[in-house]
Amino acid sequence: MKPTIAVLPGDGIGPEVVREAVRVLAIVRPDLECSEAPVGGAALRAGLPALPDATRALCERADAILFGSVGLPEYDGKPLDARPEYALFLLRRDFELFANVRPVRVFSGLEFASTLKPEIVSGLDCTIVRELTGGIYYGQPKEQRVVDGVECAVDTMYYRTPEIERIARVAFDLARTRRSHVTSVDKQNILETSRLWRRVVTRVAAEYPDVRLDHLLVDTAAMQLVRNPRAFDVMVMENMFGDILSDEAAMLAGSIGTLPSASLGTRTHARGRFGLYEPISGSAPDIAGKGIANPTAAILSAAMLLRTSLGDEAGALRIERAVEATFADGARTVDLGTPASSTTAFADAVIARLQST
Ligand code: IPM
Ligand code: MN
Repeated sequence: MKPTIAVLPGDGIGPEVVREAVRVLAIVRPDLECSEAPVGGAALRAGLPALPDATRALCERADAILFGSVGLPEYDGKPLDARPEYALFLLRRDFELFANVRPVRVFSGLEFASTLKPEIVSGLDCTIVRELTGGIYYGQPKEQRVVDGVECAVDTMYYRTPEIERIARVAFDLARTRRSHVTSVDKQNILETSRLWRRVVTRVAAEYPDVRLDHLLVDTAAMQLVRNPRAFDVMVMENMFGDILSDEAAMLAGSIGTLPSASLGTRTHARGRFGLYEPISGSAPDIAGKGIANPTAAILSAAMLLRTSLGDEAGALRIERAVEATFADGARTVDLGTPASSTTAFADAVIARLQST
């Protein structure tokens, strides 16, 4: 049987960038079966739930999910289960995609695209490991109430030790393949969940005597990320801290449009580990449909998919080298400078380099 990829383009720039990633995949791996299904606002607009049953069924039988993005302004203010984002919430929860891996790299030639000084970001290579199925996103109670005639709302940050142990192991295992340094981020001066987090991560660290562990408070981490980002190798943190710091870290790379991500769980199949791969940029409705979105994050997400879910390291490297070469040769999308290529022209440039290697 051919390896199957569930392609869920979603909203905003999602379809534009995923289309290019699929074109790239078709060059490197013509044997893949890529099947598309609606998700998020694209599904809601068609009168379906954010994650339609048929889309979920496709994901169930796929080796991996290539995801675009979800979110549309017309759903702002609606309850979570009527919003496009609910699809991602359900996929993460129901496929137990607890480990979100977000590599942050500054490509050579793009140092000047960052708002930080080039000498601060040049050569930056760190990875954020974000816990993705717990914490304040999922804790109960989570609701709006009227108490004594006053509108109130509550979200709950809740963690169980096994959830912290497994995400810590993802971070330590990853660090072993890199510079053997983990920074755990928490808010232990205020939050009980953070005091548990720090204790558990410290305990897990004993299994990895070869890996250096530091702890940082999240506010300090936010500051250090812009002060001296190259001090970091692997950073591990709870769900919402990871959401926020990964967008901050994305800016170090010059554009959020260059950063891929993998969301991994415990499911495995004959070829590797099941996962969901997506650009971290979101749907960017302001530039959707203009053909100017940067497809790099989606293309690099496809590379991560090959590596982790299909065990195809060679294919992944081929794509990553082609993207590097494209930037090194001066190609840019509008988020990165001028003269700018369109989404498709940039992908064409990557494909041309793939075909010549
Ligand atoms: C992300 C996104 C999502 C999140 C949204 C779309 C629900 O911002 O993947 O970082 O907050 O996790
Ligand atoms: Mn986010």
